[in-house]
Amino acid sequence: MAAVSRKPVPQPVLSPLTAAAVFLVVTVDPGGEPVVRELFPDLSGLQRAVGFRAPNGTLSCVTGIGSQVWERLFGAPRPAELHPFRELAGPRHLAVSTPGDLLFHIRAARMDLCFALASLLMDRLRGAVTVRDEVHGFRYFDERDLLGFVDGTENPVEEAARTAVLVGDEDPEFAGGSYVIVQKYLHDLAGWDALPTEAQELVIGRRKLSDIELSDEIKPPDSHVALNTLVDPDGTKHEILRDNMPFGSVGEGEFGTYFIGYARTPAVTETMLTRMFLGNPPASHDRILDFSTAVTGSLFFVPTTDFLDDLPDPPGASRTESAADPAPDVRSPTADESLGIGDMKRYRQ
Ligand code: HEM
Repeated sequence: MAAVSRKPVPQPVLSPLTAAAVFLVVTVDPGGEPVVRELFPDLSGLQRAVGFRAPNGTLSCVTGIGSQVWERLFGAPRPAELHPFRELAGPRHLAVSTPGDLLFHIRAARMDLCFALASLLMDRLRGAVTVRDEVHGFRYFDERDLLGFVDGTENPVEEAARTAVLVGDEDPEFAGGSYVIVQKYLHDLAGWDALPTEAQELVIGRRKLSDIELSDEIKPPDSHVALNTLVDPDGTKHEILRDNMPFGSVGEGEFGTYFIGYARTPAVTETMLTRMFLGNPPASHDRILDFSTAVTGSLFFVPTTDFLDDLPDPPGASRTESAADPAPDVRSPTADESLGIGDMKRYRQ
């Protein structure tokens, strides 16, 4: 009888929108690679340990791995389209590229669950990584961003979402994975609020109250929706899956949107960004950028859970982690001792 081959299980990239999220971007310090590799197979266990206690909490964690650390962790082969985020310098606006080796996208119905899981991850990684950015996002009224518009309406769902987001036969070794781009945007809310609602609607391309899309006759070519609708001449639509979250600090006067877009190929998201920052004649740039500044930008590959559970050997496996070249123990002893998480591998499966 022919052996039944199981499809690799994707990480929970297709999780529905949640009320809370933590976005954690870190770089791996030199020598920190073994600590990171030890964490990966424990990720699903840690997620269960926090999430099981709150059955309706819908806790999930997606882990992304950046281009520069891929070789350090796994050597070859690498996902076909993994590369660093490419900076885009437009006539008026800049999409910056900022450091990021690992992304943890933690989502739940409640912030306490996100926070608890993020703390456990950092207990394991402390001393081996440098935190580059940490954002705690919240859901705002009826799925609105801090500009006041409903955000996420045109996300693909079900089969369309799977097709848009998961790598397929084009890269068989990494099928079931996904690419994710994140950018942290800060809004000029004073400038935005000074615009009448009708002018704001022309910037976004949808009505503010009803969320209805403007007709093609009145939707400007430099509106956000016009520039981000990618349709081939034959009618094929290229989509990404977004899970943007508002964040901010009233004391600091900081009002932001954390953009996160998953796609089967980073080229789709990059085309959108190119149109936003460099324009698409007659549009010189996306008008949303006149009120939103990108302060971070990173690209990651999201391998399957099977990959994380059963990692390929580290590069130069015959000599690394050997007595002749011991990996520095950079974990926090207190975290390991008090929580016993270092032993968690025993409980896998
Ligand atoms: C649509 C907000 C950044 C891609 C939208 C909509 C809003 C919005 C309000 C309309 C409703 C919807 O369909 O979701 C924002 C904000 C951003 C931001 C506040 C950051 C300041 C981005 C970026 C990309 C992007 C960086 C791509 C790289 C899209 C796409 C759509 C969309 C693909 C749907 C277009 C359609 O098919 O109608 N965004 N967005 N957005 N946005 Fe953004």
